[in-house]
Amino acid sequence: MRLPRTAKVPFGGDYNPEQWPEPVWQQDYRLFDQARIDLVTLGVFAWAQTQPAPDVYDFTLLDRIVDRATAEGRMICLATGTAAHPAWLARAHPEVTRTDFEGRRHRFGQRHNSCPSSPVFRRLASELARRVAARYAGNPSIVAWHVGNEYGGACYCDRCAAGFRDWLRRRYGTLDALNEAWYTTFWSHTFTDWDQIESPSALTEHWRGPDHTAFQGITLDYLRFMSDAMLATFLDEKAAIRESSPDVPVTTNFMGMYRPIDYHRWAPHLDFASWDNYPPDDSSPSWMALTHDLMRGLKDGQPFWLMEQTPSHTACRDVNPLKRPGVLRLWSWQAVAHGADAVLFFQLRASRGASEKYHGAVIGHAGRSDTRVFREVAQLGSEFERLGAATLGARTPARVALLFDWDSWWALELSDGPSRLVRYQQLVLAYHRALWDAGVDVDVVAVTAELSRYDVVVAPALHLLKGDVAGRLAEVAARGGSVLTTFLSGRVDENDNAFLMDVPGPLAELMGVRVDEWDARGPEFVNPVLLGSGADRVEVAGRLVFELVIPEGAETVGTYQADFYAGTPAVTRNTYGAGDGWYVATGLDQAGVSWVVRRVLDRHHLVGPYPDVPDLETAVRVAGDGTRLLFLLNHRAEPVEVTARAGAVDLLTGDRVEAGDPVTLAARGVLVLREDS
Ligand code: GLA
Ligand code: ZN
Repeated sequence: MRLPRTAKVPFGGDYNPEQWPEPVWQQDYRLFDQARIDLVTLGVFAWAQTQPAPDVYDFTLLDRIVDRATAEGRMICLATGTAAHPAWLARAHPEVTRTDFEGRRHRFGQRHNSCPSSPVFRRLASELARRVAARYAGNPSIVAWHVGNEYGGACYCDRCAAGFRDWLRRRYGTLDALNEAWYTTFWSHTFTDWDQIESPSALTEHWRGPDHTAFQGITLDYLRFMSDAMLATFLDEKAAIRESSPDVPVTTNFMGMYRPIDYHRWAPHLDFASWDNYPPDDSSPSWMALTHDLMRGLKDGQPFWLMEQTPSHTACRDVNPLKRPGVLRLWSWQAVAHGADAVLFFQLRASRGASEKYHGAVIGHAGRSDTRVFREVAQLGSEFERLGAATLGARTPARVALLFDWDSWWALELSDGPSRLVRYQQLVLAYHRALWDAGVDVDVVAVTAELSRYDVVVAPALHLLKGDVAGRLAEVAARGGSVLTTFLSGRVDENDNAFLMDVPGPLAELMGVRVDEWDARGPEFVNPVLLGSGADRVEVAGRLVFELVIPEGAETVGTYQADFYAGTPAVTRNTYGAGDGWYVATGLDQAGVSWVVRRVLDRHHLVGPYPDVPDLETAVRVAGDGTRLLFLLNHRAEPVEVTARAGAVDLLTGDRVEAGDPVTLAARGVLVLREDS
């Protein structure tokens, strides 16, 4: 569990000079100098060049690329190059390509295209990783290994089905245990031989795409299996690297809130986490904050790398908006504020052809440095140079945890009923948003994480309960903390079977409620919810799912205002030990979620320095020597003025501020305040 050793925040990114002639490399490095680019990620898609035929390994080109980067004094993040297999491989061994959900065996094409269960793929990918590592391991410029690229998707071939059966044998031991877990007495599904088990796909259990399955338990296990199968291919390559490179940290670039792969199952096997930040739209600072927090949570708060972001725009979407002036800088500092110890781009120079030729790059086709994007990149480069090592290794001192659970995500969205409209990410985002608006630092962690350091634990839609999570949440409350959960929590066990008790199952005692029944309505339907009492009263909207709650010890904090259940609880608070459990029984709008979250935070006097300044983000990191760094990020297109809460030095300008001084942040401005100790 360790990060690459660097003297400052590495700045650079994906660089594919194999795509253009060598004289251009010269120009590239002079521009890198200007932009203070000190790290290049090399060889991500170099398999076909490095292994042009079954028994031929040819390092001529990769040697030149690596030697050049080394001679130019850059740090190197070196890829194994296995994310896109060569055409000859697919031709010689059709088993390496994937079979899709509809059962179509794919032929050669695209990338991220290998079947994780193919023995030929596994053997050749690890052999390539072994040779790449053996060749370059002695090069001190290499600070990290980059295995594969953006693992994802799924395969439904016969080999994967066989792998699934093996995985199931290991998980369940006996068919009796499997039949019980999958509840196969339903619809005459009892399996009497392991070979009868099929992968859940459009040809078998699914009736309308990947989320509509007759057997949630089977599909859930296939998702777990596929995540593990891909992890096994990562581990093959990591082991091959370790044969010659015992110490250089290994990562692979994740995709944030990416549903198909359970990053919590992967994280222990990476030396450090890294991810590619392509937010869904251009107004997603809180989405990014959540995702950065999730990535930092993968390794118990250890900083991560921002492996990719576009300096300007993407290319793969129907419409690819440009980052406005200042946004690249703001979002880069936001990553650092949330724990990134590297800021890297896809890509350093633009491809001439194929699908990414219009993807943003630090250097465009004309090779100019007098572009807006290049200037902004260069400015950022000099800021990271000035910052030096100040943020490296620094931790986030969060008192609030938000639980994020791939199993719950899968189970919730695979479920038939009560509503397909409840989306896990949106719900988690709403609760994180409320915390973000309040300005508190949040650790987004797995349900298995150590919870004893938190005052508040928020668990939106904790649909599936596994292990001892219910007990550990109860302990948080028992010792004085607060636990908040929502509708559709505590519904199923780890096999997706309902608990034979009142909803919310094992969380019921902590929440002091039982859910008697539930209603689901279309997106247009609103049941108003009245929150609070007296002067504090506010009416907000409840949507999508309405659980009818019967308090069993809990006090009512908010009530439904309409329908036959008008006047019954929609939000409750239960005293439990020295703390409490809060239950939100419906899909509150953002105002409602924020109202509840602020009440919970208030109990613990948790609030950021500027909670009421809209879109002014704050985040704290604490360095190894105890130095506190306060990041202020103005996400608005207008300036904002606040009052300094402590004496500090702005690390980007060297300017001092004293407590009580007015501090102005420009539109999309950033301050990195090193507070006086
Ligand atoms: C991903 C990939 C890159 C590139 C970018 C484009 O993150 O890892 O290879 O395709 O997307 O946005
Ligand atoms: Zn397969």
